[in-house]
Amino acid sequence: MQLKKVNNDENGLFTARTSVRKYDKSVKISRKEIADILQDAMTAPSSLNLQPWRFWVFDTPEGKELIKPFMMFNMQQWETSSAIIAIYGDMENFSYADDIYGAAVEHKLVPEEYKVKMLEMIHSYGAQYTEERLRNSILLDCGFVGMQMMLAAKGYGYDTNPIGGFMRKELTEALGLDAKRYIPVLLLSIGKADEKGKDSIRFSADEVTQWR
Ligand SMILES: Cc1cc2nc3c(=O)[nH]c(=O)nc-3n(C[C@H](O)[C@H](O)[C@H](O)COP(=O)(O)O)c2cc1C
Repeated sequence: MQLKKVNNDENGLFTARTSVRKYDKSVKISRKEIADILQDAMTAPSSLNLQPWRFWVFDTPEGKELIKPFMMFNMQQWETSSAIIAIYGDMENFSYADDIYGAAVEHKLVPEEYKVKMLEMIHSYGAQYTEERLRNSILLDCGFVGMQMMLAAKGYGYDTNPIGGFMRKELTEALGLDAKRYIPVLLLSIGKADEKGKDSIRFSADEVTQWR
């Protein structure tokens, strides 16, 4: 085991991020800034570029009250954060393929023929997905966007804590969402740090890597 660190200083953004669970309550992050962070985070890769992530941002007193009962042991983050962001995965992500690839043509990123070929492939490929396969793929994509969100927030001078300890089923019900369609993935608390992030332990690469 060793302390978490990176070997390449160019990777400083990774070391700068730590889980921060207590924020300065007097700092309110504007919606514009949160939207910018979300937009930057969405540079994340996703399977077939279908971008299945959907966000709910709780940044008003009413919004914070709504999510409060579902925060379990994460009350300090709830109480002090500027916002809690819920990342959900949309099980109907394939229905956006035409819009996404159409926009790529509009922006002259790909020719029309490429779009047609890709959509044909995507729809026939997607039709073979089991529900479990689709769910796994969506969870993976949402994990990527969550990671990027934490790094993006850092770039704007804020800190975050990924929160898996929340009442998924109950929150989904409270939001009135179709639980078959929307999968609760992760909450992120975000705010201006009121405590220093702590160092934490990581395996050494040797311990988790096999070379062949
Ligand atoms: C999927 C996931 C769920 C997590 N859930 C919680 C949580 O419910 N509450 C919490 O305080 N921290 C939670 N964490 C934060 C981890 O405890 C933390 O990332 C880990 O201890 C390493 O510390 P670091 O983030 O400072 O590098 C979660 C992290 C991940 C990735």
